[in-house]
Amino acid sequence: DVQSMQERFEDSFDIGAAVELYQLEGEHGEVLKHHYGSVVAENVMKPLYIQPEEGEFYWDDADQLVDFANEHDLDLRYHTLIWHSQVPEWFFIDENGNPMVEEEDPDQREANKELLLDRMETHIKTVVERYKDDVDAWDVLNEVVDDGGGLRESEWYQITGDEYIKRAFHAAREAGGEDAKLFLNDYNTEINPKRDDLYDLVERMLAEGVPIDGIGHQAHIQLDWPTIEETEESIRMFDSLGLETHITELDVSLYGYPPTPAFDTYADIPEEAFERQAERYHQLFTLYESLDDAITNITFWGIADDHTWLDDRAEEFNDGVGKDAPFVFDVDMHVKPAYWAMMSEEPAT
Ligand code: G3I
Repeated sequence: DVQSMQERFEDSFDIGAAVELYQLEGEHGEVLKHHYGSVVAENVMKPLYIQPEEGEFYWDDADQLVDFANEHDLDLRYHTLIWHSQVPEWFFIDENGNPMVEEEDPDQREANKELLLDRMETHIKTVVERYKDDVDAWDVLNEVVDDGGGLRESEWYQITGDEYIKRAFHAAREAGGEDAKLFLNDYNTEINPKRDDLYDLVERMLAEGVPIDGIGHQAHIQLDWPTIEETEESIRMFDSLGLETHITELDVSLYGYPPTPAFDTYADIPEEAFERQAERYHQLFTLYESLDDAITNITFWGIADDHTWLDDRAEEFNDGVGKDAPFVFDVDMHVKPAYWAMMSEEPAT
């Protein structure tokens, strides 16, 4: 058995993985228990799964992950209380059955806004009250800033403006108490104009007393993008606001965006690509360790190369064919060059 990643980095930060429930068992479960100190649900805690119909909460799947974390003494990140994707449509339909975003009458728009904020608060409070003793960090909101800068024009935004951001954090604080760690999570936090707009938003929210405790940098990155300097600069900027830093969805894609040309199968990926990826992991973890006063958790968005959302993306751009390989374990759950590189160790022979 190779050294546990969690043990290796424990003095600096926890190492986590996003999981689907089937991965709690078998080989995935073994790797999870040996190498990781925290878990997060890849899907089952998102609003679509938790409250598919208004007032009908579905806890079975989420409970399974909570029980697993408790049983194996793992930290738990909650992803995500509110998001623009994987959210059931009923949130945005008014009492008359009309889509709120299409409403033109100012009085009805105002009523819709309050109704939506009420629904959001009910969702947040119900979830947080249920799991507050189990969850170590909450992604309260996910991806509120647009890639091109400014706030994302989601239904949440179109109906409430930035009010939903404030009310979401206040609701989570109210239900979770002072100990709840409340995060704002986003991707491409290294890249302008998004980075600076996110920074300005958070600074403004903090000045208004909105209880944000941490920033989640998703870190869906590539072999050469973003630069290590951009990653460092971004982590330092948000740290300077006095916030905790989590790296929440780390994976290192072999491809650019859009991901073409993709390798068709795992066997087609040349050793050279894995070596480049290993250098990238070494570079990253060297940086992360040097910033360990800021960073308290580093979570991979998956466990091993057999299961990654990036395959869907590679396929989407390549007529249904394509395989990515973003992690430090291969499709058979064996360590890759990237594992030794992130650990700064020579491969065992
Ligand atoms: O649950 C249904 C299932 O009933 C159905 O048969 C099947 C057929 O397609 O789809 C299943 O839903 C899929 C779901 O994952 C659960 O497997 C959706 O189609 C699929 O789109 C969804 O993808 C997830 C994606 O978020 C949704 O946007 C990925 O697994 C998940 O890795 C990804 O995670 C996001 C983070 O939450 C936020 N940051 C970006 C990250 C990557 O996109």
